[in-house]
Formats: sequence, structure tokens, C-alpha cells
Amino acid sequence: MACPKVQGPRRPPEENCRRLREGKHSDMDDELVRWAVQTAEAELSGFLPQRWAHSRGVAARAGGLASVLGDDAGLLRAAAVLHDIGYAPRLVTTGFHPLDGARLLRDVHGADHRLTRLVANHSFALLEAEERGLRGALEAEFPPLEDQRLVDALVFCDMTTTPGGASTTAAERVAEIVSRHGADSVVGRFIRRSTPEVLAAVARVEATPATQPR
Ligand SMILES: [Fe+2]
Repeated sequence: MACPKVQGPRRPPEENCRRLREGKHSDMDDELVRWAVQTAEAELSGFLPQRWAHSRGVAARAGGLASVLGDDAGLLRAAAVLHDIGYAPRLVTTGFHPLDGARLLRDVHGADHRLTRLVANHSFALLEAEERGLRGALEAEFPPLEDQRLVDALVFCDMTTTPGGASTTAAERVAEIVSRHGADSVVGRFIRRSTPEVLAAVARVEATPATQPR
């Protein structure tokens, strides 16, 4: 199934209000999220049940940021549930899951470029690509989005969710990844390099009023 279109041109606020009233915006978002969940489940749930549990947890975190993201709430939820799809064994080509996953979404599903770029660059993947000699390929095919709010939101969702899908802190998540992979492994080196950026992105999201406890 092809990916539903995520976005058209930016609409004036009054049109957004009308679309929300008529249910068009939420219908479009629902369709995108439904497709994303089905696609991720098909690739991950059978072979990688823990990865699928993590992906569902990340998507649940994204759902909690809907009021922060506004029009892009569905896009974030779709990116969240799909961000690790490149781990699916049948999709491994480079062995670098952000790139393998984004290529599947672009080439097989015709997904929107913002969705593929979010998946390709999730959680500072460019730094890991550098460790693997793939930075040039990643940047050329999927340049990082300039929308800091969306990029931060996906970092927040991924890096505050455990491998099993529960909520955690970014500091605990970073420590868990380093201990699982080893500090001197490719992933360990990447995580240690990206930690200041991860913590800063998570702090920016946590500072937004909509994520404060009531
Ligand atoms: Fe993840």
C-alpha cells in the first residue's frame, strides 16, 4: 500500500480550523498513522518482537506530544512507529537501520519526503553514519529536516523509551545503550558523541508547556 500523502502546501489558520471542524485533518492523520502502524507491524512484530514493543512505546510517546506538534502530530506518530523498521532482517542491505528503513519507505511505499528524512535521521543518525562511513550517502539521499521541533520530538520519543517500550529518562537510556553495545563499539562511540545533543533535544521538548505535569 502506498503511503498516504502527509502534507500539502501550508494552509492559512482559518482553513486549518475549517478542516479540523470537518474532521478532514484528523482523517488524513488517522489514515497515515494506520498505514504506518500496519507497515511497521508487518516488518517487525514476527521476527523482532522486542523491537516492535519499543516502536509501539515510541509511538505512544509521540501521541503524548500531539498538542505540541499541531498539524504535524500524525507525521510524528508515523515516524515514531516506523523509525526502527530498518532492523527488519529482510530489509538489511547496508546494515545501518536508519538508511535501510528510509530507503524501504521511499522506494517501496513512496512515502512523503519529510517522513523518510525523519526516519533516516532519527536520534542523530548522521553521527552514527559517520562512524560507519555512510554520512555522505545519508545526507545526499535524506538531508536532515530543518524543523527543529519535529526533529527534537522524535529524539525525545526514542530516547525516553526503553527497548521494551516503557518510559525512561534520556540519561538512563543512553547508559543502557552504552552498556548493551559496549563503550568502544560503533554504536557505543556514536552514543557517547551524541549524548550532549540528545540531552539538549530532550530538555527542549520537556521545557515546552504542553509536556509539563499538570
Ligand atoms: Fe528506537
